[in-house]
Amino acid sequence: MTTIRREYTSDFSIEQNWQDYSAEEHAIWRLLFERQQRLLVDRACNEFLEGLDSLGVAAEGIPDFRRLSGVLDDATGWRIVAVPGVVPDDVFFAYLARRRFPSTCFIRRRDQLDYLQEPDIFHDICGHVPLLMNPVFADYMQAYGAGGLKALGLGHLQHLARLYWYTVEFGLIATQKGLRIYGSGILSSAGESVYCLEDPRPHRVRFDLRRVMRTRYRIDDFQKVYFVIDDFQQLFDATRPDFAPIYREIAALPDIEPDMLGDADRQFAVERGQKNGLQYDRSPSLGRKRLEDVRQHHNR
Ligand code: PHE
Ligand code: FE
Repeated sequence: MTTIRREYTSDFSIEQNWQDYSAEEHAIWRLLFERQQRLLVDRACNEFLEGLDSLGVAAEGIPDFRRLSGVLDDATGWRIVAVPGVVPDDVFFAYLARRRFPSTCFIRRRDQLDYLQEPDIFHDICGHVPLLMNPVFADYMQAYGAGGLKALGLGHLQHLARLYWYTVEFGLIATQKGLRIYGSGILSSAGESVYCLEDPRPHRVRFDLRRVMRTRYRIDDFQKVYFVIDDFQQLFDATRPDFAPIYREIAALPDIEPDMLGDADRQFAVERGQKNGLQYDRSPSLGRKRLEDVRQHHNR
């Protein structure tokens, strides 16, 4: 068993203590990694696959944050900070605003390969960190952190949390080769990696900032709707305006249910699948707990 030291500092950072991971923990990483590698090669967007490649996370097993931070820092000025689990919203946003990505260190057990309620190191490192190698996405995440601190102050975290959910965690991107995945919650889930692109049931709707901020989301099942961006620059530009007046505008409108379509929605058709009878397991993705916490926080 790994004994990760739990000496909390005021910023919730801990030591990763990479040397303490057991052979079993490295083996679980390799299992998850190889499975996603097969699924994602023609499903994830190029920016993700390139980021993963240049980070050099692969068959080596659980990566050492010291090495990853060095590579990441050289590329985009981001670094990884080890944390014990979900950190408070203000701490989380403050990290992002300073180009620090708080990552968990523990890995799920072998009997939890498909579903875990909270983010683990596989979700955080394999799902989130590769895109931080992309300059535009790296800037988006920093801007999101600053925007999070602002939304907290304005009491509109719920609206901003939906943006995170439907972009950073569950976003799709339209490429010349068809729809591809960039959301980390999907990228770290075997089942949803296939479902989101190939199952005819969920809606795939062109990204619209206000539409996203009004749309509730499921934390206990695959998504009913995915929002599709053209590229990261579009996402960055769409989120550049001051959100304060947008929050006020949206607060006056009703929420949209995840499975509801509106007249203004521009849908994408499902492009593949159904061929040989779609097969995936029904367990939902990871990375849900953080935003569930955000929601509870908001409802208090
Ligand atoms: N422009 C947003 C604001 O004024 C900040 C933000 C940027 C939020 C990018 C999310 C993503 O609040
Ligand atoms: Fe996540």
